[in-house]
Amino acid sequence: MIFTVAIDGPAAAGKGTIARAIARELGFAHLDTGLLYRAVGLRELEGLDPVAAARELDPEGLEDPRLRQADVAQAASRVAAIPEVRAALLDFQKGFARRDGGAVLDGRDIGTVICPEAEAKLFVTASDEARAGRRFRELAAAGHDVSYEGTLAEVRARDARDSARDAAPLRAAGDAVVIDTSDLGIEEAVGAALAVVRERLGAR
Ligand code: DC
Repeated sequence: MIFTVAIDGPAAAGKGTIARAIARELGFAHLDTGLLYRAVGLRELEGLDPVAAARELDPEGLEDPRLRQADVAQAASRVAAIPEVRAALLDFQKGFARRDGGAVLDGRDIGTVICPEAEAKLFVTASDEARAGRRFRELAAAGHDVSYEGTLAEVRARDARDSARDAAPLRAAGDAVVIDTSDLGIEEAVGAALAVVRERLGAR
């Protein structure tokens, strides 16, 4: 069975949590495409050429805990604006999306560029403050030395860059269902997303 769930949206809106829950519930494979750009960003911080790093990337080796760091997120957002970096990561993502057994991908351009033919498209968003608050608590709980104001500025800078770039900018596909998670708990947000996906599954 080929069935793709495309989940896009700004940083820390809850895409990852929703994507993992849908994949678990339906037995689909999940790909956090942000990790691909974070892995390239990390190599760039280490002094490598980002285009070469993207071409050499092993998509199976995305376990490094440093990929979660705020400086790596910013580097990811920078290298993600380079068309050759995006091109190098395209085939892997397209193949993953159409693999047999169903796939959930979350990122910025899944419903618009990677898989415009996705059977279910969601655009998950939330207010800047709600997103920064969640990301701040996540990072602080993991022992990172961060402030709420710094996290808010980081999230806004990343969204501005991700939205303004020419290459596959962050935007909702015309046929995406928008879910605003500002005032939703995790269970409510997952429930709303699952309802959309189940409805599309049933319509086939
Ligand atoms: O989802 P994330 O926060 O891990 O993504 C990190 C950065 O990678 C994000 O700021 C922009 C870039 N990215 C992208 O350009 N396209 C994607 N499909 C996923 C992430």
